[in-house]
Amino acid sequence: MTTITVDLGARTYPVLIEAGLLGRAGDHLAPLAKGRRIVIVADENVTGHLAILVEALNGCETVILPPGESSKSWAMLERLCDALLAHGVERGDLVVALGGGVIGDLVGFACAILKRGCRFAQVPTTLLAQVDSSVGGKTAINTAAGKNLVGAFKQPEIVLIDPQVLDTLPPRELAAGYAEVVKYGLIDDAAFFAWCEANGAALLAGDAEARRYAIAHAVSAKARIVAADEYETRGIRALLNLGHTFGHALEAEAGFGHALIHGEAVAAGCALAFDYSAAKGLCAAEDAARVAAHFRSVGLPDGLAAAGIDAPATRLIAHMRHDKKMAAGTLPFLLAHGIGRTYLDNSVDLAEVEAFLAAAR
Ligand code: GLY
Repeated sequence: MTTITVDLGARTYPVLIEAGLLGRAGDHLAPLAKGRRIVIVADENVTGHLAILVEALNGCETVILPPGESSKSWAMLERLCDALLAHGVERGDLVVALGGGVIGDLVGFACAILKRGCRFAQVPTTLLAQVDSSVGGKTAINTAAGKNLVGAFKQPEIVLIDPQVLDTLPPRELAAGYAEVVKYGLIDDAAFFAWCEANGAALLAGDAEARRYAIAHAVSAKARIVAADEYETRGIRALLNLGHTFGHALEAEAGFGHALIHGEAVAAGCALAFDYSAAKGLCAAEDAARVAAHFRSVGLPDGLAAAGIDAPATRLIAHMRHDKKMAAGTLPFLLAHGIGRTYLDNSVDLAEVEAFLAAAR
């Protein structure tokens, strides 16, 4: 068992990582519930995992929601809150989010507001949720104006990660989650990026030890960053947005759907962030080429064309102007002085980014 602590004073919690943990989840959730009610919220895609978790808890109440990004909505938030209230959930009860990032974000937000806050645990079942969204307390729903625009910081009380559940994850979802793994190397850990270059293919092919190592390494990095800047006010947690500003524009252009899923947009976005850094003379062209080559080698998009984006640069810039990180007319960008040397740049000129994107087409 690997245990990583997210050190947040009164909100400190453990992240436990172990193959087969789902079937032993009762050992950790039951003592946490202290005899109070446990309600699991899952989506229709994870009913197999749900059965294992319910058995591990010797039976408990469940709420099952439709899968997919469209569930991160006002309507589904209302439905979930009503369902939890119908189950009689009280503040001291434990709500368990079982699923990918959609379920984790939705359940976390419901638990932030239900009865002004009730306890919750995360049991993530996708690689993306295991290495990113289940840890750190960001919760949200989408609105007509954009993604994740309404939400709250709400830390879970425990995160249980069973790498074995990835065995049934569709390969495309797995690869998309892997982009977020690589991101940690690109941010501040060149040695981990080199590990990804050497082991990423094995991880994606099912190597259990590679998966455990990568998840533990990524969660440790996330725990360190979140502990240093829980509310993203100190320019540290913002580093986790590497690839997301370019990526958000690509996702928006692709319609936030099946054509380009989030992790794929992050891969292409990271490659573009490095290409742009190289074009500005901030980082060596060899580093940008290494980033693109690694994403390509595992079947992830390494730029506009591979992401299927043919839109004029002006359209992509228009999407960027709607990014929720826009502040007083400027958009913070994560740029890099090299692999493992990402920094936050608040002085990027969008006209210059537009010229770069036009050339990149
Ligand atoms: N996914 C970025 C963050 O948790 O800050």
